[in-house]
Amino acid sequence: MGAQRTDLDMAKAKTLFVCQSCGATSNKWLGRCADCGAWNPFVEERETASAGAEAEDRHVRLSSGGRPRPYGEVSTDDAMRLRSGIDEFDRVLGGGVVAGSMVLIGGDPGIGKSTLLLQVASNMAQGPRPVVYISGEESERQVKLRGERLGVEAPALLLYTETNLDRILEALKGQDAALVVVDSVQTVYSPRFSSAPGSISQVREVAAELLYFAKSTDTPVFLIGHVTKDGNLAGPKALEHIVDTVLYFEGERYHAHRMVRATKNRYGAAGELGVFEMTSAGLVPVVNPSGLFLSERPEQAPGSVVVCCLEGTRPLLLEIQALVCKTSFGYPRRVALGVDANRVALLLAVLEKRLGVPLAGEDVFVNVVGGLSVGEPVADLGLAAAVVSSFRARPLDARTVLVGEVGLAGEVRAAQQVALRAREAARLGFERIVLPASNLPLPDGQDSVEAVGVRTLEEALDLLF
Ligand code: TYD
Ligand code: MG
Repeated sequence: MGAQRTDLDMAKAKTLFVCQSCGATSNKWLGRCADCGAWNPFVEERETASAGAEAEDRHVRLSSGGRPRPYGEVSTDDAMRLRSGIDEFDRVLGGGVVAGSMVLIGGDPGIGKSTLLLQVASNMAQGPRPVVYISGEESERQVKLRGERLGVEAPALLLYTETNLDRILEALKGQDAALVVVDSVQTVYSPRFSSAPGSISQVREVAAELLYFAKSTDTPVFLIGHVTKDGNLAGPKALEHIVDTVLYFEGERYHAHRMVRATKNRYGAAGELGVFEMTSAGLVPVVNPSGLFLSERPEQAPGSVVVCCLEGTRPLLLEIQALVCKTSFGYPRRVALGVDANRVALLLAVLEKRLGVPLAGEDVFVNVVGGLSVGEPVADLGLAAAVVSSFRARPLDARTVLVGEVGLAGEVRAAQQVALRAREAARLGFERIVLPASNLPLPDGQDSVEAVGVRTLEEALDLLF
């Protein structure tokens, strides 16, 4: 490594303009990136000419033998998982922290990234191996103050305030750490690049060096990343390609609960969701998220329905609310929070055309309770029922869960994993689940909840009202 560094220092430096949103490079400044279309994204960065050669070298270092190996001979023992001590967090990671993996955790400022990782770090520092928490944002004292609020007691937890990548790697050498946390990747810089910390070439270089460290020492590395105003990880999409797992904090800071979702996971299901509550003692896992999302459900209110969506591998019961009221302007308003507005428009059209529900003169507002967003089309049936329930001012049976995708002809299409959903509904005390007829019969052992199959939206509404 040392010899390479000297080569690099002597290498001719070249000035490049790098798009801070997609990483495209240009020899001259441009007002708009031709690759990603972003306006004014170019920042002058100096790259050393031999950086490319080193990057190539790094790829070689990822493989263990440096040449192709027979499939049968590749050992998978090193995909060993360590428990983080927080079940919800392990679930999002696909069953625990994988040795040698690199995980990126993004989220808005103040949402709880440092809190969660300090909790994980202290749990994992209960064994003989140390955990190194590197902070480029807060002093060791600040981190400790937070730790005291969280009740952290961990003799093997090492705090290190440093932003120089070389010094960080030097300090990690020979530690045999159980876990390394870098808070945040945007504050760390490599002294071999002259561009500012947080710029795309710095972040990429830092991530690549830490990735090499993770893979070559089998140490899991967690990187905290900032997100920009529009919710993307600051700077580099490139970073998401480098790491094994990307976790995002979702939800609003105004709600006490926080959701952590795996948007990419090489070691588990993407889309997996962990639900936490922010308390005075840090983030506490929510054991029964369906119960949380339904806890404030109004009794006998028109326009409120419960649907069951799969978040990763876990079924979640959610309340969808609709409010339909006469429009006071010529043009009816359609507002959708937590569901795709196009999906709502489509369902309103189906209701209007196939079932003759006159919605053209009505404002329609739809909301998913709890700040969650529903991507699955199986919420269609619930959405349509909520709209009709509010329109007719008739509440639905409070003990019924709706599942099913609605097609443009008004047909109800089969859903996946209905047995799982029925079990969740039964667990929360629901008595009936209305689902696509093609999904019946349910596998054995689902008798605690009555399953009613429907073929069309019309049939479903007749049954419900
Ligand atoms: P933090 O983890 O510092 O956020 P991030 O690293 O994502 O920027 O979380 C800060 C917020 O969490 C802050 O608003 C205070 C709150 N908080 C609690 O409510 N309870 C706690 O025990 C802690 C440590 C923080
Ligand atoms: Mg922080």
